[in-house]
Amino acid sequence: MVRHLVEQNMFRVTDVADINLDNLGQVLERDSVAFVRGLIDPEEVRRFKASFEKQFDQGADRPGTGETPEEIMGHLQKLSIGGAAQSGVYRPRFFRTIYTPLWGRDRYGFHRIIRQTCKLRNHMYGRPLDFAIDEVEDGLWTAARVHHYPSGGGFLVGHRDTVVPRVHEEVGLGHFYQIIIVLSKAGEDFDEGGGFVELDGERLYFEQECELGDIAIYDSRTIHGVEDVDPKKVYDPTSPAGRIAGFVTLYRDIRNAKKLYPGYLLNEHNEDLAQGIEFDRASGES
Ligand SMILES: [Fe+2]
Repeated sequence: MVRHLVEQNMFRVTDVADINLDNLGQVLERDSVAFVRGLIDPEEVRRFKASFEKQFDQGADRPGTGETPEEIMGHLQKLSIGGAAQSGVYRPRFFRTIYTPLWGRDRYGFHRIIRQTCKLRNHMYGRPLDFAIDEVEDGLWTAARVHHYPSGGGFLVGHRDTVVPRVHEEVGLGHFYQIIIVLSKAGEDFDEGGGFVELDGERLYFEQECELGDIAIYDSRTIHGVEDVDPKKVYDPTSPAGRIAGFVTLYRDIRNAKKLYPGYLLNEHNEDLAQGIEFDRASGES
């Protein structure tokens, strides 16, 4: 079933402009997930992974919330455990986020992979291919990042994206697409669990059939999540083992915003700043 889905919904291109958006829309309408292969070299992903694992530093973890808008645009690493009630949506999780800003040092050799994926994103949104990649444009920036779901139970409960689609609506980007860079392979990097989409109530674990560097695309209707990664193993907080994926979501630049997201208010340094400012989930967490 999952092999059939990945095969049937795979767009094989070496240039983002070759993706027919009508066809892509039809595939998403039918199955709520599509895939793109050929834009990212699997060898480049392997090199990135080797560097990422080598530099992995548990000591860099920050809490899952409370960062400032400036920090999230820098080299922030945070560990999210729990229901994330402060975000206003109860969505249990256990994963780590490593932001890899395109204006920062390319510490893992990840930026080329990210840039190529941004071009795909921009093509899908009908924007210039270099839109909001190297700078803030129209109040939006690329939250280039890696999500690490540790071996020994990393997970994200199944859900539909709600926050970012709303941000997209507010800024006039139109239809929301979630774009995920496949950076791990089931059977190699982990044995059980991993990224899934639900189709007709059945969970399909796409990393079983995707290659490194494939890109998965969802929209706001797609139920997706990450099922417990290698639950039979003991969680080792010092290890980069598990499942990783890459993202290029457009976040709103809220450094000077009149609306803030709740996590911002939880940072004690921002309490004065936050006085009288409207309370909203504007950051764009997906
Ligand atoms: Fe999501």
